[in-house]
Amino acid sequence: MKKPNKLSVIENKPIARGVYSLKLYAPGLYEKVLPGQFFHIRCGGDKFPLLRRPISLSYTQKEEGFIVLVYRVTGQGTEFLSSLRLGDLLDVLGPLGNGFEVKADHQRVALVGGGIGIAPLVELAGVYRQRAAVFAGFMDETFLMEELQQRSPDVSIATEDGRTGYRGFVTDLLMQHLKEQRPSIIFACGPRQMLKRVAQIAGDNSVSCQVSLEQRMACGVGACLGCSCAVKDRDGARKYARVCKDGPVFWSEEVCWDE
Ligand SMILES: Cc1cc2nc3c(=O)[nH]c(=O)nc-3n(C[C@H](O)[C@H](O)[C@H](O)COP(=O)(O)OP(=O)(O)OC[C@H]3O[C@@H](n4cnc5c(N)ncnc54)[C@H](O)[C@@H]3O)c2cc1C
Ligand code: FES
Repeated sequence: MKKPNKLSVIENKPIARGVYSLKLYAPGLYEKVLPGQFFHIRCGGDKFPLLRRPISLSYTQKEEGFIVLVYRVTGQGTEFLSSLRLGDLLDVLGPLGNGFEVKADHQRVALVGGGIGIAPLVELAGVYRQRAAVFAGFMDETFLMEELQQRSPDVSIATEDGRTGYRGFVTDLLMQHLKEQRPSIIFACGPRQMLKRVAQIAGDNSVSCQVSLEQRMACGVGACLGCSCAVKDRDGARKYARVCKDGPVFWSEEVCWDE
């Protein structure tokens, strides 16, 4: 059983409306966390012990021993996170989950993120660098663009209101890209509707695809079945998988999208 770590807050700052970047000093963790893994964070301290909340690694700063998590404030737990200040200690369990598949023989990869789902793709862009084409979709305001562009020179942006980049859905950009290039694999993270569409596009173009799923979590370590989601086994039979332990990253054709 993994033990939680007490990590010091180095910085916690807003980077867009309702979106924060939280930098933690994480000796012993930053070297072993993989892109796509997450941390289960106790939000509330001793006075107000909420359940833990899962937040993905966004990126590491290995020279300094830092990990950076990027989160959107949506309720009490993330509101608590936004109140953290320099020097506060945070109770963090992880890294947890499987993470994205990283393979040296992937010559070209496509990374597709929607909204806060961009965050876990930053570390992955740093792994694939020039081999990655990144597609980032937002409703309106963008964030983490500098961090992505420092890692991969090929970043395309879509906004639904057209204020930056292409006006429309990020999946339109992916479709256009697939007409010109065939990546070895697509990695995607974002809202379920976007993931479902990415999975369809990948299937139509016979490109392998991994998606990072979100589910409400309790224990975070595979013990309570609170985060089950329906998937298919190799014969197409329906079964349940735990997003925290068997995921959060799944092959797109495994997922039962209409659940
Ligand atoms: C593996 C994993 C990685 C994640 N990584 C990130 C990340 O990097 N950055 C980030 O901002 N968020 C991430 N999330 C989502 C984040 O965990 C939730 O937004 C957070 O738990 C909400 O807690 P809260 O107490 O602030 O809000 P709550 O009061 O618990 O919920 C507020 C609203 O968010 C919805 N919600 C809560 N938890 C989830 C969830 N797990 N999935 C979908 N909807 C949820 C609720 O239904 C409700 O509508 C991740 C979730 C998972 C499962
Ligand atoms: S949250 Fe308990 S099994 Fe996943």
